[in-house]
Amino acid sequence: MRAVVFERYGEPAEVREVADPEPAAHGVVVRVEATGLCRSDWHGWQGHDPDIRLPHVPGHELAGVVEAAGARVTGWRAGDRVTVPFVCACGSCPACAAGDQQVCERQTQPGFTHWGSFAQYVALDHADVNLVAVPDGMSFATAASLGCRFATAYRAVVQRGRVAAGEWLAVHGCGGVGLSAVMIAAASGARVVAVDVSPRALDLARRFGAAECVDAAAVEDTAGAVRDLTGGGAHLSLDALGSPATCAASVNGLRRRGRHIQVGLLPSATGMTSVPMARAVALELELLGSHGMAAHTYPPMLELVRAGVLRPDLLVTSAIGLDAVPSALAAMGTAAGAGVTVIEPWN
Ligand SMILES: NC(=O)c1ccc[n+]([C@@H]2O[C@H](COP(=O)([O-])OP(=O)(O)OC[C@H]3O[C@@H](n4cnc5c(N)ncnc54)[C@H](O)[C@@H]3O)[C@@H](O)[C@H]2O)c1
Ligand SMILES: [Zn+2]
Ligand SMILES: [Zn+2]
Repeated sequence: MRAVVFERYGEPAEVREVADPEPAAHGVVVRVEATGLCRSDWHGWQGHDPDIRLPHVPGHELAGVVEAAGARVTGWRAGDRVTVPFVCACGSCPACAAGDQQVCERQTQPGFTHWGSFAQYVALDHADVNLVAVPDGMSFATAASLGCRFATAYRAVVQRGRVAAGEWLAVHGCGGVGLSAVMIAAASGARVVAVDVSPRALDLARRFGAAECVDAAAVEDTAGAVRDLTGGGAHLSLDALGSPATCAASVNGLRRRGRHIQVGLLPSATGMTSVPMARAVALELELLGSHGMAAHTYPPMLELVRAGVLRPDLLVTSAIGLDAVPSALAAMGTAAGAGVTVIEPWN
């Protein structure tokens, strides 16, 4: 099969022929029809993920068709249209038993713990625990975002953030995760302040329901701007980029007893960043992390998509083939795109 491969962190990836994957007894091989370019793929390529072994094939946000199923798989067979949460759970550890597959103790992740979906085929583990049927009529390009960023945003806003109608929600970083969060929060009746450095990203945020926008490239104190626009601070705020500046701005833009959700990855030598903890204490803030979303919690989100309340299809702004991936990955280090880029490995 053809796949995007990198041999060293941060050095150009290339497209080459590699062996087709085989399904594990509990797993499947999926023919990849669409796979999103998520900033986590860029983090992996930069060497920020300790699970990656070189050479490596990135890609974790995908949808496609089951090509082959292992002998112990009971719920899926060749021809099924599927997507998968990028956190593939084991189904049997204490976290899985508690229903928290998104933080499984023995999780695997395509594109991180093993070769991923920037390829014509990808192997996925524990298919009966993890696969999600793509509803009839939903395109693969739309379904791919349900594998990572749209679902991640849904969990962050709804499940972790407990968003309520009438609340103010701030989103710092309006890319794939952030725009999904804007759309989901607006559909929940929240009033959204979108923050980004890219005017194109802010235009999309407004289109997806943001009531207010802050251009972080033009405003020195983005947290102050958020507090001004929200009558004292947001009830709920997401760092949907992952940087010391956006993390701090998210926390500093909250009102008393507000909730901060960290979704963006914060790579550093220690994996830590300085958080305004004095404010967290004095205002009794909640500081929460959010990681993917468990497959068994997808049905309410899928129902909102089916009903047309949520429109992940609108997030897709460009489609590319495998050959364009190396340069698209490299471009994430500098230029800010707008919306979601989907890769179609057979085109
Ligand atoms: N926790 C999880 O489960 C999970 C899942 C998916 C992605 N992620 C992480 O979420 C983050 C976002 O991923 P993505 O694919 O949506 O990224 P993206 O590249 O699509 O979007 C990032 C956005 O941030 C904006 N931005 C840049 N600098 C900014 C600043 N100073 N202030 C405000 N906005 C700024 C960019 O213009 C862009 O619109 C990444 O760190 C990714 O690794 C985490
Ligand atoms: Zn992702
Ligand atoms: Zn588990």
